[in-house]
Amino acid sequence: MSINEIKASEIDTDKFIAAQVADIKRTVGDGLAINALSGGVDSSAVTLLGHKALGDRLKTYFVQNGLMREGEPERVVALFAGLGVKVELVDAQDEFFAALKGVIDPELKREAITQTFYKKVFGRLVKESGAKYLLQGTILTDIDETAAGIKRQHNVFEQIGIDPQEAFGYKILEPVVQLRKDGVRKVAQALGLPAELAKRPPFPGPALAARVIGEATRERIALVRKATAITERILADVPAFQNMTILHEDRVTGMRDNAREFGLQLEIRCWDSVDARTAKPTRLPWEKLEALADELVAKVPGVVSVTYSIAKKPPSTMEVV
Ligand code: XMP
Repeated sequence: MSINEIKASEIDTDKFIAAQVADIKRTVGDGLAINALSGGVDSSAVTLLGHKALGDRLKTYFVQNGLMREGEPERVVALFAGLGVKVELVDAQDEFFAALKGVIDPELKREAITQTFYKKVFGRLVKESGAKYLLQGTILTDIDETAAGIKRQHNVFEQIGIDPQEAFGYKILEPVVQLRKDGVRKVAQALGLPAELAKRPPFPGPALAARVIGEATRERIALVRKATAITERILADVPAFQNMTILHEDRVTGMRDNAREFGLQLEIRCWDSVDARTAKPTRLPWEKLEALADELVAKVPGVVSVTYSIAKKPPSTMEVV
């Protein structure tokens, strides 16, 4: 199935919104649908499109998978309550950490998250709610990279020959699949999402599990969560596409309090990009880099090394996993 791209420069947002709302209405009929909100711009836009189309017949969940950033579930629920959308928190942390136990290979890690989300958690929610459809915020870039065999994005199925109805027991609707990130931002703004959300840098579906190389244990995720909060605060005024803080698997020799410490390494990436297909490292001021290193080694236990990645995409990808 080929998808007709709608470029951000060409989109008529009112027309697009009307067409998608009509399409969701037509497809779901008088039935029910569910969707999972992550707090990113794609799922936020889909949540508002779905509510416009279905009202209370769309149930919106926030899946607490244990892999989110600091304060994220509470923040997202409160923000959408302010927009008149009720979001139910689903605690699935134990299921995700069980699925990630011992998994080191990046693609297997992505697969473990996909199966837990789609088969276990959404499968259960669909059954409990009686819904037949899941609305989700897949965008064109997710599909490109999965179809090209670069990375298995957690939310791509039909384009790689997986029928969600057969595999998981429900159908998936993807109202923003013709858009890239810049187009989704325009639609999000037109839907009335606050700029804080519409302009939010992207964050991947596999969440902080994509930010640890090697096993995503509760402890390692907690560490990278703390480090991510520091980096995001220090880089908050940098107009980059996205920044990320990564925990490496290898340890390196360091020293603290005049003693040897075989410690942890963090890698910072900060990207300039328009649509995530290609990207260049942001030319961060040296003072920012220094502030990052100082605070990360001071506040994140065991960290003795902080590096900044200076390779472009390609051949790098933006995330390490
Ligand atoms: P990569 O690492 O593929 O990242 O160069 C490109 C953009 O996509 C985001 N990303 C994902 N988003 N599910 C998502 O929803 C995923 O599995 C996923 N993997 C990467 C990444 O954060 C970047 O913005």
